[in-house]
Parts: sequence; structure tokens; C-alpha cells
Amino acid sequence: MPSVLIKTYGCQMNERDSEQVASMFLAGGYTLTQDEKEADVILINTCAVREKAELKALGKMGLLCARPAAKPWVVYGFMGCMCQSRAQSLFRDIERLDVVTGTRHYHNVYAICNRLLRSRLGMNITEPLRRGAHICEVGEVEGFQNEIRDHLPPAGSCTAFVSIMQGCEMRCSYCIVPSTRGAECSRPAQDIIREVRELVDRGVKEVTLLGQIVNRYGKDEPVVDGKSAFVRLLESLHDIDGLERLRFTSPHPIGFREDLVNAYTYLPKLCSHIHFPMQSGSDRILQLMRRPYKNEKYLRLCESMREARPDLAITTDIIVGFPGETDEDYQETKAAVERIQFDNAFIFQYSPRRDTVAAAMNNQICLRVKEERNHDLLETVNRIATARNMALVGTEQSILVEGPSKTNPDRLQGRTSQNKPVIIPGGTAQVGTIAPVRITECTGFTLYGEVTTD
Ligand code: SAH
Ligand code: SF4
Ligand code: F3S
Repeated sequence: MPSVLIKTYGCQMNERDSEQVASMFLAGGYTLTQDEKEADVILINTCAVREKAELKALGKMGLLCARPAAKPWVVYGFMGCMCQSRAQSLFRDIERLDVVTGTRHYHNVYAICNRLLRSRLGMNITEPLRRGAHICEVGEVEGFQNEIRDHLPPAGSCTAFVSIMQGCEMRCSYCIVPSTRGAECSRPAQDIIREVRELVDRGVKEVTLLGQIVNRYGKDEPVVDGKSAFVRLLESLHDIDGLERLRFTSPHPIGFREDLVNAYTYLPKLCSHIHFPMQSGSDRILQLMRRPYKNEKYLRLCESMREARPDLAITTDIIVGFPGETDEDYQETKAAVERIQFDNAFIFQYSPRRDTVAAAMNNQICLRVKEERNHDLLETVNRIATARNMALVGTEQSILVEGPSKTNPDRLQGRTSQNKPVIIPGGTAQVGTIAPVRITECTGFTLYGEVTTD
């Protein structure tokens, strides 16, 4: 039986897309492997959002292709965002590479790779190949939203990602995603509801809806009873018996209206966590970033969500060192972090991306300043995050028990509604169930607890 190894960089969207590809290989009779020496097909799902992400994928593939081949027929492929932006040129970087498929071709990857592998096995290749097959598929696909296939989450998983819309038309001045993920398109609601029902039948308890701007789902559909298509979708999914938890990521302040804020008051399955990218606390920088909102609007939205759901955990993305960012701008970002008291924040040093407006701005910030701001902000973020976690010690939380702890397989790991990881003693709760837990200890980012019986 041939085997495939799939390595994934990038966001949850990419993780989901990799799962879709994996399930197509499984259906075709392949096994999944983590062993680079064993694999007959090696695929890397790539991210292009920052330079570092691209370098990681290129470096990894370079090393893999340079191995003395025990299996000279191995098929090597890049998938996803970096393919979209670099396309054919990737074959110049890595000649041995066989396949390059963009973000609209995940549903074709299996057929392309399988055909190639079968033909090579038929040819009885004994010497390592010097040049790859160089198959490149990065074009648009008509009716793509119907090709976002259902897929099986990894065996035994009680959580699953479900893609509801793809693409982005926002054109933030720093971001490459609009050119890698293409125009926005939403899946038909019936498809999504059916997929979630099937997942629940297979034991999934928690579903995370994915989209680049997830709340723009069905943006061309009319508002009904004051509710957007996205809120109506949340309501329909909430009705599914057996589904215990509903999450979505990432929302954007644009189109984030009262109906979505209100959803936190009457949809109890909607988890008490939102990952809500802020990017900057300075209006001047937000404008240069082409983010269509003022920081005050962002902060107000956070506050009204916390009114609707008092225990809401808010996490965010922040970019430091955007071109022209002064110390004053940076201090405004820091002040916004203090005001909102984020549960956590991903801080990114601005990375110039090809063919974006910001990359051409002439007041780029030097690496030293980016690093200083990154370091300084991280201290603030970590201090606040730790304090918020510490405050949970002694409280009771419901956790969805997901499986053995990654660091100690004798213990179990789950997550609270606020999406915080909690470790509990092994054998005290069943995987795939929601357990009441008293939090007993906190070490910064991890909570420890014990199952309560009453
Ligand atoms: N669609 C999401 C973001 C997807 S990209 C949204 O707009 O909410 C994930 C994060 O990467 C962004 O929130 C941003 O903080 C960061 N990012 C994007 N482009 C970047 C760049 N050129 N340099 C540094 N960080 C970047
Ligand atoms: Fe990038 Fe902006 Fe689109 Fe998010 S909304 S993916 S940051 S262009
Ligand atoms: Fe990266 Fe593409 Fe996601 S660029 S962040 S993998 S949409």
C-alpha cells in the first residue's frame, strides 16, 4: 500500500485543507505516515503570509529532495498559498519538485500525485530522478465553492474544522492573502449543515467554522429579521442535536454588527472565546494598513461582546514595525492591549510581501526596532495573559476532553469554552466528553485541574 506524508505550515485553513487532501488519499487506498523515509508521496502545504513561513517550507523541501533516495520514485509536491504567489518559479528553486498546486486545487492533488506515482512505479525507476515532473496548477476554478469537500477529521477526534467561506477581498496593504486565496466565496448553507450533522454522527462535539473573514459569510445574501447570513448559519448549526460547542475564526470588524454581538446572549453553544485581530492601536497606522475602522470601534466591539458574554476570552493578532510606525503609534497599540486585557495575542513583526502596497512604502522600520517592539509588547501580553489565567484558579470550568496530554501521555488534555488548555489526571474522564473541572493550578499558559464529581 503506498503512503503519503503531509506536512502543514500556516493557519487553520491550511490544516483543514490538508485534512481534505489526506482523506482523499485514504479513500484511494493510501496510508498516512509521518516517516519521511517510508513515504511514497511527500506534500508540504505552504503559507506565504510572512517571509519566514516561506523560507521554512522551501528549506524543508530542499532537504527532502536532496536525500539519497531509498525510494527513487517519490513524488514531491507543494500545495497552497506559496504556490499561488510563486507558481512556476518554485521549480527553479527546487528542480526535483514534481507538483505545485494552488489554493483552488486541493481537490485535484490526490489525482495528480497518484497518477504520477503509478506511472513511475510502472516504469520501474531505480535511479533517483534529477528533474521533477513540473506539474503546476494554480489557476482559478469555476464553481470552486462547491469543491470545498467534506473531509474526515483525524480518527477519534472530537473536534473538527469546517470551511464555510474562502478567499479575501479586503486588500489590507501588508497582506498577501487576497492574492493567494482569491476572491471571497461562500459555501451553500445546506452543505455546511449536512457536513456538521455527519461530523456529529461520527462523534465530533466541537466545530470551528473557518474563513478569512468568517463573518462575511454569505455577504451578498439579504439580512432577514435583522440577522446576517452568518448569524443565521450559527443559529441553524446551534440547533443540531449532539453538537456541544461552536467556534468560528477569524472575524473582522467590518460587517461585525449587533446581531453577531447579540448571538453571544442566546446561543449557549457558542464558545466564550473570540480570536479578533486588532493589528494596531493607532488610527494612523490602521489607515495606512487600509483597515477600514478606527481603533475605538474595535475596542467598543470588544467591550460590547464582553457585556453580552461576561466571561468572553479575547485573543488577537498585532503587527509591530509596520512602515512608518513611530514610537507614539506603538505606544497606542500598547495602550489598547492594556485596555482590552487580551487573553493572549500573536505579535508579528511586519514582513514585506511581494506585490503589496506596504512593501513599496519607503519608510520601512529596521529589524532592531521591530525586535524591540516585539519583545516589549510580548512582556505586556504575557503579563496580562498570565494574570487572567491565574484568576481562573479555584473556579469550575467545563472542559471538552480531547485526548492524552502531548507532554505527558499519562494525563489528559482538554480545553475550556474560553479555549484554554487544561491538564487533568489520566483516567478521570472520558475522551470526547465534557467534564466539570476545578482549576487547581496555573503555570502561565497551561491550567491544571481535577474532575469534580458533583
Ligand atoms: N484574515 C485574517 C488574518 C489572516 S493572516 C484577518 O484579517 O483577520 C493572519 C495574521 O498574519 C494577520 O492577522 C496579521 O496580523 C498577520 N500578517 C499578515 N500579513 C503580515 C505581514 N506582511 N507581516 C506580518 N504579519 C502579517
Ligand atoms: Fe489579509 Fe486583511 Fe484579508 Fe485578513 S482581511 S486576510 S489581513 S487582507
Ligand atoms: Fe498563510 Fe495562506 Fe493561511 S498565507 S495564514 S496559509 S491563508
